[in-house]
Amino acid sequence: MPGPEQLTAALAAEIAECVRRFGARPPGAGPPPLAAGPVPERPSAGHAPASVRAVGVDVVDVPRLARLGRRWGDSLLAHLFTEEERRAAQGGSDRYRWESLGGRLAAKEAVKKVLGSQGEAAAWRDLEILKGRHGQPVLALHNGAAVAVEHAGCTHVHLSITHEAQLAVAVAVGV
Ligand SMILES: CC(C)(COP(=O)(O)OP(=O)(O)OC[C@H]1O[C@@H](n2cnc3c(N)ncnc32)[C@H](O)[C@@H]1OP(=O)(O)O)[C@@H](O)C(=O)NCCC(=O)NCCS
Repeated sequence: MPGPEQLTAALAAEIAECVRRFGARPPGAGPPPLAAGPVPERPSAGHAPASVRAVGVDVVDVPRLARLGRRWGDSLLAHLFTEEERRAAQGGSDRYRWESLGGRLAAKEAVKKVLGSQGEAAAWRDLEILKGRHGQPVLALHNGAAVAVEHAGCTHVHLSITHEAQLAVAVAVGV
């Protein structure tokens, strides 16, 4: 009968083989060991490394937003979006307009999650999603939103948006 040392060695060998073959650990093996030594720094393209304070994500049902928009008209759009945002969503097909507005709404919700995770809040139109020079979404902060972002411990909120006929999705990263 194997002694405790042999069992430990056999188990260690089994775990090592399992990790080597599947990148996984057998049931009951417990958490993987922490990486030894410092995590190597990633290239930062000339920028000082920034730490992530909070993230937010949201998804918008584009046809639903379009239905609500058609039903409530300008009052709904004016409640959610600034004039500039509404202008930015024009200039394409009707389909693009609702997709783009859906993306902006998702981005606002994602930023609200970044703020909410730190106990802060902001109004819809105080979170304005503009287009940068490459077409990328850029967050402009108005009124109480600038203070809320600062109180959330962030100096900047990065955004990414995608949209298609049915869904618009946005991610916000507060640093
Ligand atoms: C960025 C890029 C991959 C977006 O691809 P896409 O599949 O059309 O985008 P999606 O439908 O998933 O999402 C659209 C959203 O992407 C975002 N976006 C657009 N251009 C972007 C860019 N350069 N960087 C980051 N995000 C961008 C916008 O928020 C856009 O929404 P909007 O049109 O309502 O403002 C594509 O535009 C690209 O390859 N750009 C490279 C730069 C370029 O060619 N620029 C042309 C103008 S000079």
